[in-house]
Amino acid sequence: MERTLSIIKPDGVSKGLIGEIIRRFEAGGLKVVALKMIRMTKEQAEGFYQVHKNKPFFDSLTSFMSSGPAVVMVIEGKEVIKKNRELMGATNPREAAEGTIRKEFASDVERNIVHGSDSPETARWEIDYFFPEGEIVEYE
Ligand code: RTP
Ligand code: MG
Repeated sequence: MERTLSIIKPDGVSKGLIGEIIRRFEAGGLKVVALKMIRMTKEQAEGFYQVHKNKPFFDSLTSFMSSGPAVVMVIEGKEVIKKNRELMGATNPREAAEGTIRKEFASDVERNIVHGSDSPETARWEIDYFFPEGEIVEYE
């Protein structure tokens, strides 16, 4: 069993897509094992996206991510990292496959509704960034 960090970004929350996105995860056989709504500070968003700190979009991205509430979740399942990224679609919604979350709902490459970890190592780091071990549950 693998775990990944998923974020419904502020645009996804303000468009009323929390339920729709979680429905897609559950329909895809993925299990939510931790979940909370947070309003990131700019500093918290900068820490989370530190791998992108030299990119031209860093300031805009971290301002966007701290502009309103986001839903952070730990999702569990077989090959969940890959499955979640398939459900999300490509970073740029114009390049995202039909039927994916980003193709259907995202407005541009930055405001792209969801985040998902891209490897087991980043997943572990990203989950730790938002969730102390006690906030992750196990259930059948
Ligand atoms: P994410 O990390 O959010 O799941 O998305 P990703 O792997 O598909 O994309 P990544 O390359 O890690 O970029 C992180 C987020 O930065 C914003 N972005 N803006 N303006 C731009 O060219 C640009 N490129 C990326 C997006 O919000 C992207 O999800
Ligand atoms: Mg990424």
